[in-house]
Amino acid sequence: MVTSKMSSENTICYNSLVTRIDREKLNGHKSVVIWFTGLSGSGKSTIAHEVEKRLFGLGCRTFVFDGDNVRHGLCGDLDFTPKDRKENIRRIGEMVKLFLEAGMITLSAFISPYKADRSWLRELISPENFIEIYCRCPIEVCEKRDVKGLYAKARAGLIANYTGVSSPYEEPENSDVVIDTNLLSPEESVNIVLDYLINDKMIKF
Ligand code: ADX
Repeated sequence: MVTSKMSSENTICYNSLVTRIDREKLNGHKSVVIWFTGLSGSGKSTIAHEVEKRLFGLGCRTFVFDGDNVRHGLCGDLDFTPKDRKENIRRIGEMVKLFLEAGMITLSAFISPYKADRSWLRELISPENFIEIYCRCPIEVCEKRDVKGLYAKARAGLIANYTGVSSPYEEPENSDVVIDTNLLSPEESVNIVLDYLINDKMIKF
């Protein structure tokens, strides 16, 4: 079993009297961790939020974690070095693991550029509860979109370790779903994810 390193030795886990299965029954759906990976500007957040809206409309309990948002709070002390990106993913991983126990469907949108961190995540959550969605989009297209103007800044040398410019993105090879966001509309992309969740994973009872 994969866990994070523990410094506080003298703690003992308390087992909840309400189980994950109880919560799933009450909710009318399975809990699952949906993890979007891809370059900045590849459409991760847009798709995650739209999928959440549709699932919520179907009566599911959902929550979105987004790289930009989380880095304002929980991970506000972290930068974009490999060490801190790893810590970023570790914290979110541990958090969504708790949400899984809470019976929720979480949708996480993080670049998560390193293979090792993504496979650590899959093991932490356990493969049957973890769905990786790769938002595939050529860097040239992401850079052209440059919604936040950060690629331009990175090219000008104003941002260090920028993914795709001065820091690597290691392409996933075994994602559960691959979405070519430069070829599909956001609506088509959302439909692919929903179809997978409902028809293949049968998350709704
Ligand atoms: S991750 O690599 O640790 O998974 P995360 O998803 O949390 O990254 O944050 C990515 C977001 O932070 C990007 O969408 C972008 O808006 C912003 N950002 C700021 N600096 C960088 C950088 N050096 N590299 C990538 N994204 C950055």
